Amino acid sequence: MSEGKRVAVMVGSLRRDGYSSLLARALAALAPASLTLDIVSIRDLPLYDADLDDDPPEAYTLFRDAVRAADAVLFVTPEYNRSIPAPLKNAIDVGSRPYGQSVFSRKPAAVVSQSPGAMGGFGANHAVRQSLVFLNMPTLQQPEIYLAHSDALFDEDGAIAEEKTRQFLTQFLHAFEAWIARTGA
Ligand SMILES: Cc1cc2nc3c(=O)[nH]c(=O)nc-3n(C[C@H](O)[C@H](O)[C@H](O)COP(=O)(O)O)c2cc1C
Repeated sequence: MSEGKRVAVMVGSLRRDGYSSLLARALAALAPASLTLDIVSIRDLPLYDADLDDDPPEAYTLFRDAVRAADAVLFVTPEYNRSIPAPLKNAIDVGSRPYGQSVFSRKPAAVVSQSPGAMGGFGANHAVRQSLVFLNMPTLQQPEIYLAHSDALFDEDGAIAEEKTRQFLTQFLHAFEAWIARTGA
C-alpha cells in the first residue's frame, strides 16, 4: 500500500462556482483514498513583480508554501482567448520565482481543461503544458482531458451528472496516481 499523496489543485478561473471550480471539487470527491486534492487559491496573488521578492507579500508566501508542501500539482482550467487565463499564468510565475527557488521544479503534474464550447479548452491545456516544460514538471500525458460542453456536465448539486464522465475522470485520477508514484514523488 503506497503512502497518501497530497495534490495541490490550481483552478484557472476566479469564478467561485464556475465550471472549473465545480470540476476541481468533483475530481477531489472522485479521487482514490491515496490522493488528497486540495485547492490552492490563486485569487489574492498580486501580479508578479520581482521587486516584491525583496519582501514578499503574504499572499506570495502562503501560495508558495502550499505548493511546496504538496507532492504533485493538478491544473484545472478554462480557456481564455485560446490560451491560459491571466490569474493562472500569474500564479505559475509567482511560484516559479525567485530564480532557482521554484516551488514547481520536479513535481509531477497533470492538466485538465474544460469549456462550454466544443473544443474543451484544448488551447489553454497546451498553453499550460508549454510552461510545465520550462518548470521541469514531469507531466501526465494520457489520458488527455479536454472536457467539452461543460455547462451540461453537472447536476443541480454540482456533481458530475453522467456515470460515463465520472468513470473517465476516475480513470484519469488513477493514471495520475500511478504517474506520481512512478516519478518517485
Ligand atoms: C475573457 C474570456 C475569454 C474566453 N475565451 C474562450 C476561448 O478562447 N475558448 C473557449 O472555449 N471559451 C472561452 N471563453 C468562455 C469560457 O470557456 C467560459 O466562460 C467558461 O465557463 C469559463 O470557465 P469557468 O466556468 O470555470 O469560469 C472565454 C471566456 C472569457 C471570460
